[in-house]
Amino acid sequence: MLKKIPYSCQTISQDDIQAVIKVLKTSFLTCGPKVGEFEKALAKYVGCKEAVVVSSGTAALHVAYFALGIKEGDEVITTPLTFSATSAGFCYLGAKPVFCDISPDTLNISPKEIEKKITKKTKAISVVDFAGLPCNYEVLKKIAKKYKLPLIADACHSFGGEYFGKKVGTLADLTCLSFHPVKGITTGEGGAILTNNSKLAQKMRVFRHHGAVKNPKKGGWYYEIKDLGYNYRLTDLQCALGISQLKKLDNFIKRRREIAQKYRNVFAGLEEILLQEEPKGVKSAYHLFVVQFKTKNRKAIYEALKAKGIFTQVHYVPLHFQPAYQKFGYKKGDFPNTEKYYSQCLSLPIYPTLTKAQQAYVISTLKALLKK
Ligand SMILES: Cc1ncc(COP(=O)(O)O)c(C=O)c1O
Repeated sequence: MLKKIPYSCQTISQDDIQAVIKVLKTSFLTCGPKVGEFEKALAKYVGCKEAVVVSSGTAALHVAYFALGIKEGDEVITTPLTFSATSAGFCYLGAKPVFCDISPDTLNISPKEIEKKITKKTKAISVVDFAGLPCNYEVLKKIAKKYKLPLIADACHSFGGEYFGKKVGTLADLTCLSFHPVKGITTGEGGAILTNNSKLAQKMRVFRHHGAVKNPKKGGWYYEIKDLGYNYRLTDLQCALGISQLKKLDNFIKRRREIAQKYRNVFAGLEEILLQEEPKGVKSAYHLFVVQFKTKNRKAIYEALKAKGIFTQVHYVPLHFQPAYQKFGYKKGDFPNTEKYYSQCLSLPIYPTLTKAQQAYVISTLKALLKK
C-alpha cells in the first residue's frame, strides 16, 4: 500500500538540517549575518540588484505595496484567480481591488482586460504567475509603461521559472516570493521582494522592522519611527535554511518539470481533461499541476482520489466569491473564465520527492475514475 500522497510538500535533506543547527549554535538567531547572506544569494540567483527578505509571501506583498505608496482610495488591478494575499496586501492599505478576468488558456490575467479597467485612481498592476507559469510580461510591461504604473509580480508560484531566458524576479518592478513549505523552496514561513530599485528596497527594509530608522549621530541606541511599520523580519535560522534550499532550486524545478511532462504526455490525448497551456519561450516552475475536467464532476473525483490516499486541492475559490471581497461590489458572473475554471479544476500532486511509482499510481487511479 502506497503512503498518502499530498498535492505538495517540502523537500528537506540533511544539509538543510545541518545549516539550521549551525545557526542555533551562534549568537544570532535573528537580525544576524544570515539575513544579508540570503538576500545576496537570492539577488545573485535571479540577477537583480536587491532582495529584501520578510516573514511570509503575504508580508512581501504588503511591504511592496507600501513601498509603492499605495494608500486609501487607490485602485490596484489584479486577478480574481489567486490566493487572498495578492489583494489583501493593498486592501490593508485602504486600496480597492479591481479584478480582471483570466485568459482561459494560460489561466493568467488577460492583458486585454487590463486596459479597460485603468482609471485615474489606478496606482498599480499586480499580476500572478498562476501555478508557476510566468505571465505575458512583454505585453504587461508595455501597458505599465504606457500608463506609468508600477508592475508587481506575485511570483509566489513561479520562483525558478523563466520568460524568454529571463528569470522570474527580473520581469516586473517588484517581484514577491513565498517560502511556505509547498512552494519552490522553503524557510518554514517566509518571503522576499526582488527589485532593481535600491530606494524602494531601503524603504521595504525599514517597513519590515517597525519603520525604525537609526541615527547614530544622536547615539548608538537612537532610532526614529516616521511611518509605523511591522515586525516582518525573517530569522537567521530561516535564512540559513533558505540559503541551503536555494542551492537546490534548479534541481527541484527540473524534477517538477519532469513530473509535469509525464502528466502532459498521459493527459494530452484524453478528451475529458483540459491542461494549462505553456506558451513557447515560457518556462513554468510548476508549483501546481492543474487540470480541468470538461465532463466529469470535480467534487466526485476529488473525493474518490482522497479515498485512495491521493490528496488533491482546488486553487482557488475566486476572490470575488469571498465574503470579505463582496463589499467591493463584485458578484457571481463578473469573471466567466475564472468561474468556469474554478468549477472544474483540480491540482494534482507535484513536488520534487514524488516518486515515479507514486505518480504512476495517481495517473492510473485518475484514469480509472475517468472511465467510470
Ligand atoms: C499566489 C500567492 N500569493 C501570496 C501567497 C502568500 O504567501 P504566504 O503563504 O507565504 O504568506 C500565496 C501563498 O499561498 C500564494 O499562493
